[in-house]
Amino acid sequence: MTDKDQLPEGATPLDPDEAAGLKPGLTTRGELNAFEQTNIAQAVLWARKSRILRRDLLTIDSLKLLHKRMFDDTWKWAGTFRATGKNIGVEPYQIQTQLSQLCGDAKYWFENDTFPIDICAIRIHHRLVSIHPFPNGNGRHARLTADLLLLFNKEVSLTWGGQSLDVDGETRRAYITALRAADQNNYDLLISFAKRQ
Ligand SMILES: Nc1ncnc2c1ncn2[C@@H]1O[C@H](COP(=O)(O)OP(=O)(O)OP(=O)(O)O)[C@@H](O)[C@H]1O
Ligand SMILES: [Mg+2]
Repeated sequence: MTDKDQLPEGATPLDPDEAAGLKPGLTTRGELNAFEQTNIAQAVLWARKSRILRRDLLTIDSLKLLHKRMFDDTWKWAGTFRATGKNIGVEPYQIQTQLSQLCGDAKYWFENDTFPIDICAIRIHHRLVSIHPFPNGNGRHARLTADLLLLFNKEVSLTWGGQSLDVDGETRRAYITALRAADQNNYDLLISFAKRQ
């Protein structure tokens, strides 16, 4: 299966090595999408009840574990950091340090009420996708991380534009535009997008 076509805007293409990490039996993008969706749906059910994640989601181990549970039926490298550079994200050797820094920053925000919790979750989501720790699945992993943070803190959930982000369209475009503004440290578009009714 190739990864060239049918990628929505702002998606990360896979390297040949990463594409080779596809679990056996998956031959078409349709099959992959279906397996990913089932895998993620099961991971969401697990994550919502996970004591480890609830105790401390913002650690490198928890973030890796969540990615592993989301993608372990489809990708051999689920839960492991990428080893190659991408069009989005930091250099591979910086992933560990930058994630530790994000976890530290986020703990400080929570302890000091720097931002309301939903704004914390949106900022953490953006920092996660900017670091882009994994070969693929970063968007879905970062959105689920934000969703779980809100759930664990008994806060109202986000809508992420209120429509599917899986296909190209107005919602996906608005999301990527908002992320690019957040890359320039302007979070307003991303906040209104994530809370849009
Ligand atoms: N300019 C940008 N700045 C920060 N993050 C970005 C930017 N463009 C795209 N992204 C993020 O990267 C994600 C794509 O990365 P990747 O393909 O690893 O994740 P995914 O979960 O497979 O994607 P998707 O969210 O499309 O399902 C996008 O969903 C978005 O969250
Ligand atoms: Mg992707």
